[in-house]
Amino acid sequence: MSLCRLTVTAVRNLHAVTLSPSPRINILHGANGSGKTSLLEAVHLLGLARSFRSLRLQPVIQYEQLACTVFGQVSMPEGRLCNIGVSRERSGEFVIRIDGQNARSAAQLAEIMPLQLINPDSFRLLEGAPKVRRQFLDWGVFHVEPRFLPAWQRLQKALRQRNSWLRHGTLDAASQAAWDRELCLASDEIDTYRRAYIQALKPVFESTLRELVELEGLTLSYYRGWDKERALSEVLAASLTRDQQLGHTQAGPQRADLRLRLGSNNAADILSRGQQKLVVCALRIAQGHLVSQVKRGRCIYLVDDLPSELDEQHRRALCRLLEELNCQVFITCVDHELLMDGWHADTPVSMFHVEHGRITPWE
Ligand SMILES: Nc1ncnc2c1ncn2[C@@H]1O[C@H](COP(=O)(O)OP(=O)(O)OP(=O)(O)O)[C@@H](O)[C@H]1O
Ligand SMILES: [Mg+2]
Repeated sequence: MSLCRLTVTAVRNLHAVTLSPSPRINILHGANGSGKTSLLEAVHLLGLARSFRSLRLQPVIQYEQLACTVFGQVSMPEGRLCNIGVSRERSGEFVIRIDGQNARSAAQLAEIMPLQLINPDSFRLLEGAPKVRRQFLDWGVFHVEPRFLPAWQRLQKALRQRNSWLRHGTLDAASQAAWDRELCLASDEIDTYRRAYIQALKPVFESTLRELVELEGLTLSYYRGWDKERALSEVLAASLTRDQQLGHTQAGPQRADLRLRLGSNNAADILSRGQQKLVVCALRIAQGHLVSQVKRGRCIYLVDDLPSELDEQHRRALCRLLEELNCQVFITCVDHELLMDGWHADTPVSMFHVEHGRITPWE
């Protein structure tokens, strides 16, 4: 998939604009505060109906405006064009339109426009709480395994039920046992999909990383959220008293994690800033490869401030890998000179200049 038209209205400092991006490389450059990240945020809003900078959407809406709107025309793998739009109001209300119809959930947008974001916050994938890595993992599983979403919804329901029972004990033991069986079934299913995904991701991640940076001994492993030698039902039974004291279920896929280690250390504790950025890029690029192997469509990459933290050699290596992905990529930078050359002659590269919220093609 790629965006062939993008219309943005009332997003942060951006003046209303319609762009026709290149299906491959798009470079947005301009001074600090000009609106580069805001444009990436607009694309993100279109793909996920939420912002990456703030969970609250209010700050995204331009001062003194009641709503922000982003429209996109997406070129689909089967050659069809799909029109999508997202509008957010200050009241919190939002509307998602897909081909003229109101859509029920943001998952439908994600399906049409799989997005990968690499920005200064991406370090959180290594340093942050397990939740960030679980989201990364589940994004991939969601896109390659259609049975994942219903299993995940069943898990959430069973888990809510169990946690409520732990706190209030409203249900009789037999009925709760039936819920626990459902919880264990959904958990095993999710674990199976996640494990299969990691098995496919690992070799692609390792070869991508090798092309970016020499990091001998870096390993990626998966923790499923409970003891790998025991069935979840056994673990739940053993931890019942503790779960009741805490008021929630401690073990299960809701506790899964990805572990990145360098030798016996946590990679985030050892790697430099630049190395961390390259590891995150390798993870996200590997995910893009897997998605395009399974779906006919491809991801759209948003890379905010690509040159930061990277020396020339690593910057070039990252650009080459992004180019080889054959995806649509939106890259921002302050100094466009750093990204002007090095692209293959056949790759369509479009440059845009951003100045005080105005975006204009740069010849
Ligand atoms: N809701 C809003 N309405 C209007 N302007 C806003 C709003 N929120 C933020 N801004 C302003 O938008 C401008 C653009 O911010 P943005 O983060 O897009 O800049 P940038 O080009 O990415 O800069 P940098 O190179 O520093 O990363 C900033 O000056 C910011 O103060
Ligand atoms: Mg920025």
